[in-house]
Amino acid sequence: MATRAVLLIEYMRDSHRPTHACAHDSVKTSFACGQRGGLVYEFSTAFAYSHCMTDFQAKLDRKMALSRTFTPAAPVSRRDAFSGRFQQITDVVTAVSEPGRHVILYGERGVGKTSLANILSELLVPVGSGRREFAKRITCNAGDTFRSIWRRAFQALDLEIPEEWSYGAPNPDDIRIALSGLTPSMVIVFDEYDRIDDDETLSAMADTLKTLSDHVVQTKLVIVGVSDSIEALVGEHESVKRAVEEVQMPRMSRLEIMSIVDRGFREVGMNIEDDALIRVTKIAEGLPTYAHLLALKAGHRAIDLDESTVSLTHVDAAVADVLDSHMSMAAYSGAVQSSRSDSLYAQVLVACALTPKDGLGYFTAGAVREPLSRIMGRRYEIPAFARHLNAFMSIERGSVLQRIGVERNFRYRFRDPLLPPYALLSGIAGNLIPEDYVSELFAPDPDVDWDELLANLLAEEKK
Ligand SMILES: Nc1ncnc2c1ncn2[C@@H]1O[C@H](COP(=O)(O)OP(=O)(O)OP(=O)(O)O)[C@@H](O)[C@H]1O
Ligand SMILES: [Mg+2]
Repeated sequence: MATRAVLLIEYMRDSHRPTHACAHDSVKTSFACGQRGGLVYEFSTAFAYSHCMTDFQAKLDRKMALSRTFTPAAPVSRRDAFSGRFQQITDVVTAVSEPGRHVILYGERGVGKTSLANILSELLVPVGSGRREFAKRITCNAGDTFRSIWRRAFQALDLEIPEEWSYGAPNPDDIRIALSGLTPSMVIVFDEYDRIDDDETLSAMADTLKTLSDHVVQTKLVIVGVSDSIEALVGEHESVKRAVEEVQMPRMSRLEIMSIVDRGFREVGMNIEDDALIRVTKIAEGLPTYAHLLALKAGHRAIDLDESTVSLTHVDAAVADVLDSHMSMAAYSGAVQSSRSDSLYAQVLVACALTPKDGLGYFTAGAVREPLSRIMGRRYEIPAFARHLNAFMSIERGSVLQRIGVERNFRYRFRDPLLPPYALLSGIAGNLIPEDYVSELFAPDPDVDWDELLANLLAEEKK
């Protein structure tokens, strides 16, 4: 027991959050004095071990509770954990209730499409009905065909898969006839639809939507995918457009992001100070994944310090944890790698992240000049970084940027919307962005009334 206690204490002492790892005073004193194997240890090891273990377990429990609330890697699966999105909920639910109407839900990566699809069942429960599922979600893959996705859909719906499907693909009318007999009617969600690359499948799905709509079949389809437009998702099928409601999932509003964070902390008996909440909201840029990730890591920092209120200090400290853990790490390092220490790749990528973007995330090369010049402390014109922008589109650098338009009017965009916040945090942590620029970035924006947002949040809490 004693040896394990010393090991545990040593582990805690050497960890990067040492003095708060154990609440026992004598052990804290020994840490502070750096006494090794002296009286204090011998006096307190057995007691400290059990005390530390209780303390350690308590922190672990709190962290686990936080990890169930903030889930950066998993879509929301319960209505009560789902924040905001009232417009999109209304659009989807009213469309599936309207005879002959189906839904195409599209938007950037990571904005919360699957989360909304996941809670559809709870949203669709008719008044007075018992608990049951009214929506089934099928996740599409790159190799899927019309037959394979409908096989999975039929399995999920407990429908018998017709014998003849073993020899050939079903046709849209077969699907329509089978779904017409389904009672009660259901909503079938085809998630990650953009991953299907087989044109015949896309065409057959368009025909299926059309025939289901024409025959006013009560069971509805909701097609979900990463895309800027419905055309990019289902192609140029004019007839489909009449059969579907297009619901675009935009980035979340500031209030929605604030609500995720504030509510998540309250759920586990914690809270967050206003300036910390504003910082998380700014960094998240409307992407709920970042709100979850930053809140989780900042919450862990607070728990390590036995605190229940998350402050700006915890959020700033959490940036390093986010950088270590985030899935964009490989993309960022691949894009900026260079054997030369004076290369500009990191600075240009961070400048791109800081460049103002249009509604679809596009920016021009000209707009990169200003943030890059601020980063470098002297004026930079396009020829000085044009080759870097080109390099970011190359496979060698992970094609992190995409480009559209024609020469002299090119527009660029990050292929992965999760990369710019990561690049910004890396830029701050790596001291690439001068301090005065960082303070400016996080200063209260004159065009945003944060006090009003905080007041709205408070009003929401009281409801
Ligand atoms: N309304 C919401 N309330 C709380 N958290 C949300 C909400 N919407 C999404 N999230 C969180 O945001 C993250 C991304 O959500 P989700 O996986 O649903 O996005 P997506 O658009 O389906 O992403 P992808 O394009 O990668 O499939 C998850 O951590 C999820 O928990
Ligand atoms: Mg998804």
